[in-house]
Amino acid sequence: MSTEPLPVQKKTTVLDLALRKARRQKIPVLTAYDTPGAQAAEAAGIDVLLVGDSVGMVVLGYPTTLPVTMDQMVHHAGAVARGAARSLLIGDMPFLSYQVSAEEAVRNAGRLVKEGGMDAVKVEGGRDILPAVSAILAAGIPVMGHVGLTPQSIHRLGGWRVQGKDRRSALAILGDALALEEAGCFAVVLESVPARLAALVTERLTIPTIGIGAGAGCDGQVLVSHDLLGLFTGRTPRFVKRYANLFDEMTRAFREYGDEVREGVFPAAEQTYEMPDTEWKAVGAALEGREGAPPGPVLLARGGRGRCGS
Ligand code: KIV
Repeated sequence: MSTEPLPVQKKTTVLDLALRKARRQKIPVLTAYDTPGAQAAEAAGIDVLLVGDSVGMVVLGYPTTLPVTMDQMVHHAGAVARGAARSLLIGDMPFLSYQVSAEEAVRNAGRLVKEGGMDAVKVEGGRDILPAVSAILAAGIPVMGHVGLTPQSIHRLGGWRVQGKDRRSALAILGDALALEEAGCFAVVLESVPARLAALVTERLTIPTIGIGAGAGCDGQVLVSHDLLGLFTGRTPRFVKRYANLFDEMTRAFREYGDEVREGVFPAAEQTYEMPDTEWKAVGAALEGREGAPPGPVLLARGGRGRCGS
């Protein structure tokens, strides 16, 4: 099987994901938070981008995703949308943007589409949030579900722990995923659940499952881009695989820049603008009131030398 990234051609839609599950084609998904992130993901052949509320932790420095606001999500969604030409764009609904009422859920999902340029939204939770899911879907906005470890419920879950390890919670996760499918979700994220449970859910669902810490049996995988790039310096879960160490690379580049400024190496001639000698001489003549000075008001009449007079 070829490992070459697929060239991204036409706009990817929720229907394409269903087709990929039917054809048993794995679906790679990445989070994106800004224009260059979206451009790089598309250039690499990733055509499903999630503007995750993980932005709060990996970009904005919060300890959890709970403080993230709708305005912040819309801001980052817009940046991603401007960098992505063809990807399916999914905007995460932040904490309390859909839990309070179905009406607020529709209004906030609509903001991600209208103002943020998203094609779909993602919500965390199962049967508890079905009224919000149905209302958003009724407004014509595709919804992705998210069960297992749901970071917006981190305090109720008692920390970042694997979910569904006992029979009761495993069956609850399966029930929630089935309910989301029944409600009309186009896909479900399975986060931090045992691989055999994720494989069972994937088998029982007709819509694609996208795993994160859920083993290889899911229809697709998602990773937080800053985790895989090595840009996030906090503790990362076991399921993260680092494909680069950009934090070290960024630090190296910043250090080299700082050293070069201190040593007078930067800027060099190639980073510097010049002007024709004749013009430069005329500037000097103008300042000294000599012949050959260009007509017009005399500069620095008060006798100052100015930046180019020396
Ligand atoms: O916020 C996020 O990035 C997510 C993914 C980890 C699924 O919800």
